[in-house]
Amino acid sequence: MIQAIVYTSNTGSTGQYARLLGQETGLPVCSLTEAKKALNEGTQIIYLGWVMAGGIQGYADAARLYRIPMVCAVGMEPAGKEQELREKNGIPQDAAMYVLQGGYSPDRLRGIQKLMMRMITGSMAKKLAAKADRTPEEDDLLELMQHGGSRVSPEKLAAPIRWCRENLGGAGHE
Ligand SMILES: Cc1cc2nc3c(=O)[nH]c(=O)nc-3n(C[C@H](O)[C@H](O)[C@H](O)COP(=O)(O)O)c2cc1C
Repeated sequence: MIQAIVYTSNTGSTGQYARLLGQETGLPVCSLTEAKKALNEGTQIIYLGWVMAGGIQGYADAARLYRIPMVCAVGMEPAGKEQELREKNGIPQDAAMYVLQGGYSPDRLRGIQKLMMRMITGSMAKKLAAKADRTPEEDDLLELMQHGGSRVSPEKLAAPIRWCRENLGGAGHE
């Protein structure tokens, strides 16, 4: 039985999604650091991690310690790269996987991370700005990369919440 929601967040958006999912499911929520002190190895958990250069932060560590039937990757981009992220991070095919759009908080980044994101968003924004037939999603991504902001919303958790309803079962988890 799934016992907890565990997350790794850098600027807060993954933590927000984890807490929203906790409110919906009634499961306790904690960071991976806290989980390492509180949860036994082999415990079944839901894992949420922020994406850095395609890597779901903390996932490899969490997967070594716990059983993870569902993973959420929180990045800057809207959903669409599930398969790529699954392969790159070695998430087994029998685990559910969702991509959630977090945001971009340049003011909360420091050092190498700030520099990396300046480079990533700079080149991506340049390409997008030059594109004539941008979709509304691409317009919004361009705006996010140019000005920063949060795209966290409870609506984006609809699919993970549905998965929880179908897979948690048991009193107190509905
Ligand atoms: C150094 C760095 C690299 C990143 N690389 C990616 C990436 O490859 N793909 C992506 O979608 N988002 C990427 N992001 C954006 C973060 O995943 C996004 O801001 C996310 O919402 C952060 O979650 P958090 O607020 O929980 O830390 C990157 C951010 C930083 C700082």
